[in-house]
Amino acid sequence: MMKHESIETNAALLIIFTLVAISIGGLVEVVPLFYIEGTVEDVKNADGKDAVRPYTPLEQLGRDIYTREGCYLCHSQMIRPFRDEALRYGHYSLAAESQYDHPFQWGSKRTGPDLARVGGKYSSAWHVKHLTAPRSVVPESIMPNYPWLNENDLDTGDIAAKMATLKAVGVPYSLTKIEYDANVEKFGESVAKKLDINMAEKNLMEQAKLGNYDGNPDKLSEMDALVAYLQVLGTMVDFSKHDEAEFVKFR
Ligand code: HEC
Repeated sequence: MMKHESIETNAALLIIFTLVAISIGGLVEVVPLFYIEGTVEDVKNADGKDAVRPYTPLEQLGRDIYTREGCYLCHSQMIRPFRDEALRYGHYSLAAESQYDHPFQWGSKRTGPDLARVGGKYSSAWHVKHLTAPRSVVPESIMPNYPWLNENDLDTGDIAAKMATLKAVGVPYSLTKIEYDANVEKFGESVAKKLDINMAEKNLMEQAKLGNYDGNPDKLSEMDALVAYLQVLGTMVDFSKHDEAEFVKFR
């Protein structure tokens, strides 16, 4: 019999056995996820359409600004299924909610609060103030100022290319009539229209004008996009309409 001591005093052996143990543990955790039906929950709205949709062009550009500015260095977007997290942030995050995120923004670093359900928590005017000068609304905040988001015009030139790239990795934006019709079936017509790459710039302008996220209707700023993105986070699944038990079975 090999003695434990002989493994612990031999670096090479210790590394090999550690790798074997970690691999088995990893496989046991990961492999079942590819076979369990409902690993990504199939969440439907009352009308039978998918509750979670890809981001609109404006939200997607906002998301790009979020990653560009490194917001993820201080903020996670994943509420874990623990009581304290649910009490603070709301229902724990579903896999379905980040199924169209590339890359996902789950994170484990929370210098600031989790943002997975921040949509609708504050007014857009609050976000503009907060992002421009966090300490003007939360005096003890250590979050940096992002004043340039108001000043920078939003660069919309590459939105169609960005959507086409996301489409290549599986996000159902549509280019052809067949793909559009499939989206109508899956998400309903009003959503399908927003996912049409051919209409991306027009849709983007429309949403920015209607939403007036930055409070300045004459300017399409980076702030418009970022606030549109923040305001949609966590709002796609209406948890009041779903029985807790419906999701518990996926745990
Ligand atoms: C250095 C760390 C840091 C960075 C980087 C950072 N934040 Fe924050 N953020 C915080 C802290 C701390 C708070 C809590 C205090 C406050 O509300 O300002 C916060 C709060 C927030 C809130 C309010 C959350 C709530 O539920 O009250 C939002 C929204 C937010 N941040 C968005 C952003 C965005 C968007 C970016 C990137 C442009 C960003 N943050 C970058 C640290 C950071």
